[in-house]
Amino acid sequence: MTINSPQLHPASTAARPLRLAILLAGICFVPANLPASPASDADALLAKMTLDEKIGQMVQVDSGALKDKADVQKYFLGSVLSGGNSDPADNRPETWLKLVEDFKAQALQTRLKIPLLYGIDAVHGHNNILGAVIFPHHVGLGAMHNPALVEKAERVTAEEVAGTGINWAFAPCIAVSRDIRWGRSYESFGPSTAEVAKNGAAGVKGFQGSHLGKNSVLACAKHFAGDGGTENGKDEGDTVCDEATFRKLYLAPYAAAIKAGAGSIMVSFSSWNGQKMHGNKYLLTDVLKGEMGFQGFLVSDWAAIDQLGPDYQSDIQTSINAGLDMVMIPAGPGEGHNYAEFIADLKALVAAGKVPEARINDATRRILTVKYQMGLFDRPATDPVLTQSIGSDAHRQVARECVRESLVLLKNSGHVLPLKKNLKHIAVVGQAAADLGIQCGGWTIDWQGKTGAVTTGGTTLLAAVKLAAGADTEVTFSADGRDLKGADVIIVAVGEQPYAEMKGDRQDLSLPAADAQLIAGAKSAGVPVVTVLYSGRPLVLGAALDQSDAFLAAWLPGTEGEGLADVLFGKSAPRGKLPRLWPADHGQLSVDHLTGQPLFPAGFGLTY
Ligand code: BGC
Ligand code: BGC
Repeated sequence: MTINSPQLHPASTAARPLRLAILLAGICFVPANLPASPASDADALLAKMTLDEKIGQMVQVDSGALKDKADVQKYFLGSVLSGGNSDPADNRPETWLKLVEDFKAQALQTRLKIPLLYGIDAVHGHNNILGAVIFPHHVGLGAMHNPALVEKAERVTAEEVAGTGINWAFAPCIAVSRDIRWGRSYESFGPSTAEVAKNGAAGVKGFQGSHLGKNSVLACAKHFAGDGGTENGKDEGDTVCDEATFRKLYLAPYAAAIKAGAGSIMVSFSSWNGQKMHGNKYLLTDVLKGEMGFQGFLVSDWAAIDQLGPDYQSDIQTSINAGLDMVMIPAGPGEGHNYAEFIADLKALVAAGKVPEARINDATRRILTVKYQMGLFDRPATDPVLTQSIGSDAHRQVARECVRESLVLLKNSGHVLPLKKNLKHIAVVGQAAADLGIQCGGWTIDWQGKTGAVTTGGTTLLAAVKLAAGADTEVTFSADGRDLKGADVIIVAVGEQPYAEMKGDRQDLSLPAADAQLIAGAKSAGVPVVTVLYSGRPLVLGAALDQSDAFLAAWLPGTEGEGLADVLFGKSAPRGKLPRLWPADHGQLSVDHLTGQPLFPAGFGLTY
């Protein structure tokens, strides 16, 4: 069924008075050919629901907080999520599927059998799950300048998500990141609103398809709004600017996401001019739902309402009245502000007339409508083929394509790249070359990511170089760059250690000293040096650029290191272009407060 198809809409609105007339006339059947719509289905269901059932739909609880799965049934929960650290012990796809199906089964045992939405941060592939394909983070996808490929990548991710029974991804992040001190810069396609809008809309279509339907994974554009514009790039900080600027820079990508059909939007932890977004009725209700016509539902960020103050009950009152439809709650009974407390408080607020029941109805209707649009009420069980295809070669090929299209060649003196065919000895240097964790960055298996060769399945740069070099080429590896004798060329891999939100903010964005030393040491060997930088953002390079003959900005490419080898060995030309300027110094970290000339302008990228 095509939900967005223009023919269906007039028919379905016309159907409502007709149905009513039939009911009033006391005729106890609805003609089979009368077209239902997700909205009318939601209305009909809403009419049967108690307040407890409605409030339950508005609650999303972290799986880790649900010590007793039956609480899904007991509290009529509308949604469960798995946060970045809420993986099942063995973390295998089949285990995930079982876990998710168990939660979904609980919801189906309720009186009204309303299916569960299960959400997860699939922000660069299905990144929590062992063996899933990890794509480049958004900063790399932004360097491709190829929304069609973003859509293809997110379609693959959607299939892997669906293979674990999960039907909702907290993606795409459509932050417009203006300041690279922000530790979440890599989750953004870049500082250009237009580029973010195009890629974000493509991402929505990748997850959902052309419209929300039975093959969709629900997308969630996040974080509304201004998350990437905070002062000094502070995570969860304050975006200070006038309304015209706020709209032009930060709201425009949401218009594109809505047009692409985004069924859900996550509200930002951050503030606009000192007011927290979770309490901003003007932006959430008047602008987003009113003026911009957003028909889906709004979900909070992780315990974000708790920051509103002065107390939990007022947090609930303020945020729900501001227009929040679903609240993400990471705590269980006895753990601080938890779902039982939320439900009791919201009920009390309704009883006291402090939250209008009409607001509860609107929130529930929005959630139910999305569930109907997605066909959740009669979706078949998860196709085992989807589960088996998690991490498949076909999926890896798409990620590999993204990797090679995202690499930005900043320097290539003496045409050292592509590497010559007849090299006798390639020395690969730097721990990052053999560390899938560094190659993937944050939001990989763990919330903050982690270093280590065995984070998940995939191909490191070192392994990829070994695969791509001919049988006559010796490839040696040294983490500290000590043994470089006899090398024809040295590939040095350096980069940031993994980080995610809260922990990734930095004032000093210099290339780490140990990395600078590694490059300087390689240079002193007297043979060409090719530097590969893994980073969530441009770093201030100092002497490292001069000391490198070729320099490749690889961003956080994910598990498919062969995409790097494709470019290094010339199987594919580098085509990535900087999604943002590359700073020459620390006066150029924010595009809104620039002093001096950048090292490279946005859009720069060499090729061969
Ligand atoms: C992040 C979101 C994420 C959510 C669930 C929050 O802390 O800001 O991006 O979707 O947690 O993990
Ligand atoms: C969770 C993340 C969440 C973060 C926010 C972590 O414990 O795993 O999903 O985004 O907390 O504080």
